[in-house]
Amino acid sequence: MISNLNVSRRKLITFSSAAIAGLSINQLLSKAHAIEIQNSVSFSIPMLENVATPNINNPIRLNFNENALGMSPRAKQAAIDAVPKANRYAKAEMPLLNKRLAKHHKVDDTQILLTAGSSEGIRSAIAAFVKSDAQLVIPELTYGDGEHFAKIFNLKITKVPNLPDWQIDIKGIQKAAENYNGFSIVYLVNPNNPTSTVFATNEIEPWIKSKPKNTIFIIDEAYAEFVNDPDFKSVDEFIAKGYDNIILLKTFSKIHAMAGLRVGYAVSSVENIQNMAQYVAGEKLNYCGVCAALASIDDQPFLTYSKKAVDVSRQIMEKVLSNLGLHYLKSQTNFIFHQSPINLKDYRELMKQNFVLIGRDFAPATNWCRISLGTPGEMLYVANIMYNLRKNQ
Ligand SMILES: Cc1ncc(COP(=O)(O)O)c(C=O)c1O
Repeated sequence: MISNLNVSRRKLITFSSAAIAGLSINQLLSKAHAIEIQNSVSFSIPMLENVATPNINNPIRLNFNENALGMSPRAKQAAIDAVPKANRYAKAEMPLLNKRLAKHHKVDDTQILLTAGSSEGIRSAIAAFVKSDAQLVIPELTYGDGEHFAKIFNLKITKVPNLPDWQIDIKGIQKAAENYNGFSIVYLVNPNNPTSTVFATNEIEPWIKSKPKNTIFIIDEAYAEFVNDPDFKSVDEFIAKGYDNIILLKTFSKIHAMAGLRVGYAVSSVENIQNMAQYVAGEKLNYCGVCAALASIDDQPFLTYSKKAVDVSRQIMEKVLSNLGLHYLKSQTNFIFHQSPINLKDYRELMKQNFVLIGRDFAPATNWCRISLGTPGEMLYVANIMYNLRKNQ
């Protein structure tokens, strides 16, 4: 398969020289651990027996951090049941979802704003704070939507270089806000995308609690439910305690596997929520999405399964990367960021020719690759491909 590739052998030489050829698939996964995880959930996790078999029309999509499992069966049924009623707006269902989310985050109903995915949350949060003297402060390597929307609103953009291994420099971000003579919109993604790393909540807590003048914190926790690091905690608890300088953004696209149904929300002070509400489509959210979200949020067995399946996929991928000697960052999400064995464009092409789609370029992280974590069966296929690449050097 690999021999037809249009990439020079010399480029492949940069792969690790670790002797991994001939490694069997069973060595990728601690079976005991996998069985332990399987026994802890009520859904069947696709394991070794189910190695994926992609083809040109049905590639493995590891390029958009989607949830490969599909949504909860209960959520799916709720969406299907909603279709015949979708000639109507979700006037009755949206307040129910709003109420349920308020309970989840221990805030008042008026502190939640439903949005069409968290993309609309990012846009409306920035729109709500556009001022002539405002700047957006972001880490140099982070999710691009903050910068994208700030540019549309003609805001000044200040990018703070990341620390080694792309960690977020919270002190540097603070300095960039404090040294600025105007209003700062600080957009932080935790865990970050594309790095998949977290910063400890207590790194930012004193700054938030000092209630700096002229600063709003937009904290995007799209992937929070996947986190294993105990130093991470949601900023929702500060909002519940009355801090009015934070906008928390959440989505049903990731752990809930509902990316195509477009449901997200913001949690903040009543005033911030009212301000943001001017910039969203309001009561016109996707009817099927709202019904599915209502079912999914209470489907704890599915959410546990969703997280644990990603834990298994991550374990497979970490083993592959370690065996290939490729440096990677400790993943806290459903994707992993690693140094590419070869020029990233060639790597992407090689994988594509083997029916695996992987992440795009993320400047300034030249030759680092983001691979989303698919099902365990998909990751086993990917593991084979990566080992074959090594063997064929
Ligand atoms: C950090 C982050 N925030 C927000 C989004 C937007 O997701 P959605 O609009 O589907 O909620 C993404 C999508 O990948 C993301 O990675």
